[in-house]
Amino acid sequence: MTTGTPLLDARALQRRFGGLTAIRDVSLTVERQETKCIIGPNGAGKSTFLNLLCGTLRPTAGQIVFDGIDVTGMPLHRIARIGIARKFQVPSVFGRLTVRQNLSVAEIGTAHDGKAPNTVAEILHKLDLTEIADRSAGDLAHGQKQWLEIGMAMMTNPKLLLLDEPTAGMTVEESLKTAELLRTACADIAVIAIEHDMRFVRALDCHTVVLHQGALIAEGPFADIEANPMVRDVYLGRQ
Ligand SMILES: Nc1ncnc2c1ncn2[C@@H]1O[C@H](COP(=O)(O)OP(=O)(O)OP(=O)(O)O)[C@@H](O)[C@H]1O
Ligand SMILES: [Mg+2]
Repeated sequence: MTTGTPLLDARALQRRFGGLTAIRDVSLTVERQETKCIIGPNGAGKSTFLNLLCGTLRPTAGQIVFDGIDVTGMPLHRIARIGIARKFQVPSVFGRLTVRQNLSVAEIGTAHDGKAPNTVAEILHKLDLTEIADRSAGDLAHGQKQWLEIGMAMMTNPKLLLLDEPTAGMTVEESLKTAELLRTACADIAVIAIEHDMRFVRALDCHTVVLHQGALIAEGPFADIEANPMVRDVYLGRQ
């Protein structure tokens, strides 16, 4: 559903690291319950961009409005409370705890915002983890760990979930299952996913943004992006 104002409105964001401009004038909006993918070559600035959105890094210039609140420069924990959850590029679960215990731990500090919170049982079901709920997280297959981590992020009841390469290291089957899980488990929240796996992006079939050398060079439906000669030249042609 599209309302007057987008859930996320990132305006002309810029981030410099010394002499390097990692993000240059990138604007992006995300509607409630919308999924967008960000693609682009290594070093394009994709992770940096997510770091700006979730408060890990401050933008050098630009503004981030989330759910009507100016969150520019706010620290990570406050942005998390307002409803942005982040799954990082490297998976991190508590290996000695069970799947169920990992989800319970993630519930601490949840921002419920008047809504009924996600329960552990609901998240186990949504992420297809019920059958392995009592196994130690350290014993899980790589894909299952990644799904558990998505579940842990979901336990915080976010309005926007940021995923940095959720299918890294996965088999093709796991990667396609991840796209399916996101479609179903995250149907009622907004998602931004960074990905290098084009099978996954094709399966998600959502609005796709291309970053190259810190700049947004193209955006649109994935089918258009895939056919875009400039995108093929700087990125897809090299895959
Ligand atoms: N904390 C930092 N300090 C200095 N330079 C950084 C920092 N973080 C990122 N950079 C630089 O910013 C640029 C963008 O990096 P970023 O990690 O955002 O790329 P990416 O698109 O996520 O790449 P990949 O696909 O390899 O994950 C790179 O040149 C990187 O070296
Ligand atoms: Mg990255």
